[in-house]
Amino acid sequence: MITDLNDILSTNIKGMKRSAIRELLKFLGQPGLISFSGGFPSPATFPIEELKGIINEVMDNEAAFALQYGATEGDALLRTMLVNRYKASGVDMSIDNMIITTASQQALDLIAKMFINRGDYVIVGLPSYLGGLSAFNSYGANMIGIPMDEEGEDPAIMEAHLKELCGKGQKPKFIYLIPDFQNPAGVTMTERRRKEILQLAYKYDVLIIEDSPYRELRYEGETQKTIYELDGTGHVVLLGTFSKIFCPGFRIGWVVGHPDVLDKIVVGKQATDLCTPPFTQRIAARYIEKGYLDPKIAEISKMYAEKQKVMLDSLAKYMPEEVTWTHPEGGLFLMAKGPESLDTNALLLDCIKEANVAYVAGNSFFCDGKGYNTMRLNFSYESIEKNVEGCQRLGNFLKKVIKK
Ligand SMILES: Cc1ncc(COP(=O)(O)O)c(C=O)c1O
Repeated sequence: MITDLNDILSTNIKGMKRSAIRELLKFLGQPGLISFSGGFPSPATFPIEELKGIINEVMDNEAAFALQYGATEGDALLRTMLVNRYKASGVDMSIDNMIITTASQQALDLIAKMFINRGDYVIVGLPSYLGGLSAFNSYGANMIGIPMDEEGEDPAIMEAHLKELCGKGQKPKFIYLIPDFQNPAGVTMTERRRKEILQLAYKYDVLIIEDSPYRELRYEGETQKTIYELDGTGHVVLLGTFSKIFCPGFRIGWVVGHPDVLDKIVVGKQATDLCTPPFTQRIAARYIEKGYLDPKIAEISKMYAEKQKVMLDSLAKYMPEEVTWTHPEGGLFLMAKGPESLDTNALLLDCIKEANVAYVAGNSFFCDGKGYNTMRLNFSYESIEKNVEGCQRLGNFLKKVIKK
């Protein structure tokens, strides 16, 4: 190994740490471990039999396309299928408003690469998705965290920051929002709040990045319009993904936005991976074409609604009274909060060793380094029985710790 590895590292990579969540995945193989940590879908939702048939068909009929390099913008058939789904839900767009990415995480990285110079400001939620924060951090962004209430990020606080930064000639490059079942807080932004933040985007002429991987997994309440749909002026870039409604292993996501923005993302993507695999894109396109996706989403939503209910009931039964938690209308996570003295980060390894339960310590989601008394709990991956048992073990562990 070369002796000066640390000396030759780029400034960007030097500032980066391994993701706390991905590090935790190492423990997933530990015998008996119940994991509430990653954002993994249940493997029971994967459409294995349907995919076997489609893969054979693609190999028989269109292998020359599927096994070749593809357009950086993505498979036109898949883009058309996805655009048609948006259109069917009332969103006006054309194929020129969509490109495919190697899932949403790549879109976040490409957006960061496109906009962020070291020291630039971006606005994020307090808390916000760790993978988003890591992507922005890796290009040297200064993150301004906006506290959230039950309607979403606080627009008055956001405006105060926008005003101050714009006044100093340091306009934030974008506002990053996860308006549907926010990861990790579980909050769904109300339409009123979406419109208020959109008005700020107009007033200060800032882009909004609307990241919505969980949007179609709703278990109660009314579907909200996307901020993209409420906009119509090109101030919003919308990210979608197959990861939670189909198969994360396919690594397919998409970006919806103004063609000028998409054009720059394509330039960045060409230097990153040339194209998202045409193989998985074409299989996904045929999967939608055959009408499998919507019934699958309905099936997944039913399964996760039940899992969420059982987890909420189990938390009520087993958690110490000092702990509270959110009740999201959809998505894959709940966020629990303990007394100020609780440090979920410091306790995590003990919890894994003693209770054999893993969660994600909440502070990794807070760009201001706070949130030590919070934890994110996933309910989609484990079985219902394990969700119950995990809540019991976690509850007993926390009762013991809080008592001390
Ligand atoms: C808010 C949010 N954005 C983006 C992603 C990345 O998803 P993927 O890259 O699998 O599409 C996730 C994954 O959990 C997420 O929660």
